[in-house]
Amino acid sequence: MSVTILAIESSCDETSCAVMRDETLLSNIIAGQDVHQQYGGVIPELASRAHQQNIVPVVATALKQAGVKRKNISAIAFTEGPGLIGALLVGSSFAKGLSLALNVPLIAVNHMQAHVLAHFIQDPKPEFPFLCLTVSGGHTQIVLVKDFLQMKVIGETHDDAAGEAFDKSAKLLGLPYPGGPMIDKLARAGNAGRFKFPEPKVDGYDFSFSGLKTSILYFLRDEKKKNENFVNENLNDICASIQSRIVSILLNKLEKAANDLNINQVAIAGGVSANSLLRNQFEEYGKKNGWKIFIPKFEYCTDNAAMIAMVGHYKFIKGEFENQSVIPKARLPIATHF
Ligand code: KG4
Ligand code: ZN
Repeated sequence: MSVTILAIESSCDETSCAVMRDETLLSNIIAGQDVHQQYGGVIPELASRAHQQNIVPVVATALKQAGVKRKNISAIAFTEGPGLIGALLVGSSFAKGLSLALNVPLIAVNHMQAHVLAHFIQDPKPEFPFLCLTVSGGHTQIVLVKDFLQMKVIGETHDDAAGEAFDKSAKLLGLPYPGGPMIDKLARAGNAGRFKFPEPKVDGYDFSFSGLKTSILYFLRDEKKKNENFVNENLNDICASIQSRIVSILLNKLEKAANDLNINQVAIAGGVSANSLLRNQFEEYGKKNGWKIFIPKFEYCTDNAAMIAMVGHYKFIKGEFENQSVIPKARLPIATHF
């Protein structure tokens, strides 16, 4: 019997719906929210309202594009957390209503677990065990993945996430939100060796980015005192230098974890894994260390419902369902099952 999952993602500022039959993705519709650009960051209340406007057409389009009738859906999967609570409430309420109306099971999905399983949407797929560096706007984690639903966070950030480090640096430079893609673009024409920013000293496989943000703030303040046009005149080099430091912080920790645990299947996931330097350098680290590396397609790096459907598929097979009393959670650690 085939399993058809309809999945809904609404944890931040993308409203997304995907339909997956067995492990084959049939549709993955994503509606972004331009409304936040002018504010330099996601405004939670505006995100919730936009989700409410988007969710009906996004779900309808996903079903139409998949060519699947509602009566053929096996279960509804939705993002339980972590994320913005108002945004999560829109997706979870819609998912609960749909599961009641269609009389099919409800599956709650951890968003960070879904970023990891994004690697199973397309070939080539990693083999277990593998390590996944999950880098997004809200999280930075190194995850040891033993099986589809068995994973353990072995390192994470003490403060800002890698995406926040990009976005906050961009804000200091007067660039619009989200700053990550802008820094990536401007860095291409810059000299990464021009300015040196410190690498934080953090134990184990954990990260910290708040010191980097402060050092950039003081650096810009001091340079602007000497030359008020400093940022404009050196924008490409500043972006390249910041990007290069963020990427080296991430990959040095990933390398340490892979060496210590003797794992040679290594993956990156999450919005920041769209960064071109991270992707290139990851390949270099892979060659140097003899890793088999995995990088998801661009549309599966940033938030999407296809990855929620992937977790939904494996939870369906294991019979891990929720009842109508399930509530979304702004904070939701990945449960370790080993
Ligand atoms: O995974 P994601 O789409 O949403 C969250 O779950 O947070 O990640 C969004 C983050 C933002 O901080 C954005 O600036 C960053 O991913 N990002 C990038 C790039 N594309 C997106 N950061 C650096 N370079 C990029 N090309
Ligand atoms: Zn995400």
